[in-house]
Amino acid sequence: MIALGSDHGGFELKESVKLLLKERGIPFEDLGTNDGNSVDYPDFGEKVARKVSLGEAEKGVLVCGTGIGMSIVANKFPGVRAALVADVYMAKMAKQHNNANILVLGGRVIDENEASEMVATWLDTQFEGGRHQGRLDKIAALEKELYR
Ligand code: RB5
Repeated sequence: MIALGSDHGGFELKESVKLLLKERGIPFEDLGTNDGNSVDYPDFGEKVARKVSLGEAEKGVLVCGTGIGMSIVANKFPGVRAALVADVYMAKMAKQHNNANILVLGGRVIDENEASEMVATWLDTQFEGGRHQGRLDKIAALEKELYR
């Protein structure tokens, strides 16, 4: 299951990501926001990142105006590897090298077609493991040290 969240700046793009997931038959849970009225991105970033951190969602997609605020929030959560991507290459690397479990998009930065391509690429790419797993292990060790 993929958890989805946005603020008002990412609302429209989140809706377009839902269409892609529906087309592909991928289960998702939309945790809001549900319209274009102004809200605070930490409130929605938290909902998605908490679910991914607890293993209640396998992956997440977060969208705000730039993607920056959502990235900052999501990466506070242990086990979350949230990647803000601005093109298809970054989306591919986010999975292949970083095994990102949350993809973050900027609703005021990219259009719906670009977002679809990026989400599809992230979903279809495999994590390469090997030396990249070693790097992720170092991040996990840092989390243990910092948050225990
Ligand atoms: C909201 O205006 C905007 O600040 C937010 O969507 C996001 O871009 C923050 O990083």
